[in-house]
Amino acid sequence: MIDEIANSDSIAEVVQAGLRAHPKALPPWLFYDQTGSALFERITALPEYYLTRMERQLLHRHAATVMQIARDHRSLSIVELGAGSAQKTSLLLRAAQATERRITYLPVEISSSSLQTALLHLSNEFSTLRVQPVLADFVRDSFRIPTAPHDQRMLLWLGSSAGNFDSDDAIGILQNVSEEMSAGDFLLLGLDLAPDCTPGGKQIEDILRAYEDADGVTAAFNQNVLTRINRELDADFSVERFQHAARWNSATCCVEMHLVSTVEQNVSIRALDATVSFRIGESIHTENSRKYTPAEGRMLLREAGFTAVRTWLNADGWYGLFLGQREEG
Ligand code: AVI
Repeated sequence: MIDEIANSDSIAEVVQAGLRAHPKALPPWLFYDQTGSALFERITALPEYYLTRMERQLLHRHAATVMQIARDHRSLSIVELGAGSAQKTSLLLRAAQATERRITYLPVEISSSSLQTALLHLSNEFSTLRVQPVLADFVRDSFRIPTAPHDQRMLLWLGSSAGNFDSDDAIGILQNVSEEMSAGDFLLLGLDLAPDCTPGGKQIEDILRAYEDADGVTAAFNQNVLTRINRELDADFSVERFQHAARWNSATCCVEMHLVSTVEQNVSIRALDATVSFRIGESIHTENSRKYTPAEGRMLLREAGFTAVRTWLNADGWYGLFLGQREEG
């Protein structure tokens, strides 16, 4: 059994600060309690949510090449940030094993239930793979990669998860995590791409549809934040009085998710000894999902200390994989 990370104090802190702020905002890591993680898994299978499907297609096509490029050591540690259930990683692990090296896989997760699912799934599929699960909050903790010193390392940050941070924070996370990586180690980033809005290209509406699915799974994922605050901070949010909204912000090239108050209301949060007032139409901003141009994706690698080695885009340029190699120093 993997222990859960204790974080109720920090939940109190971020909720207190976020709901006092103007405009109100909450950090997206609050989505991922057990229910939120399960809802996110459902999102990744939705027809509107093209990101997972397109990333899987790219990995299917290019995993072998990625592993061929990164094959100058006998042993390779693959470290995956926010591994989730590790479904998407199978393609890379299979390609890595085909290069006949000693492979260790280190899924890094804040959610112990996701790590348990990943372990179960991997032990069914890869009987000989060495898996070293890491329960850690790589965003908030100063995090060191626990790999064998002589292994080559490949850091994976897939699923466009880097897009949930502003670029400076994403660069900071990569710099922090990669501090103990050596020159020649690799980073593979999966990023959702910016709309190009040429006829036939990816439109803003295509992106928004992925965050406003017809079955309301994304709405439930967003509203679950309020249920979590009710449970963990003894609050009395009426979830049905907050409507899910996805908005495109062209200045930041982000999809924003909001919970919009449909009435004027007061919410009491007993663990904080606080009452929060909402006007009609006032929102809590719960997530940014930044979309990058290919040039910006390569820039992200460079700013984090990696040389951009290869970029793979799917045919219509909706989604990209970016491979970087760690520079000296
Ligand atoms: C995890 N992250 C990359 C997802 C995204 O697309 O920004 C989270 C998500 N939010 C709504 N749907 C999915």
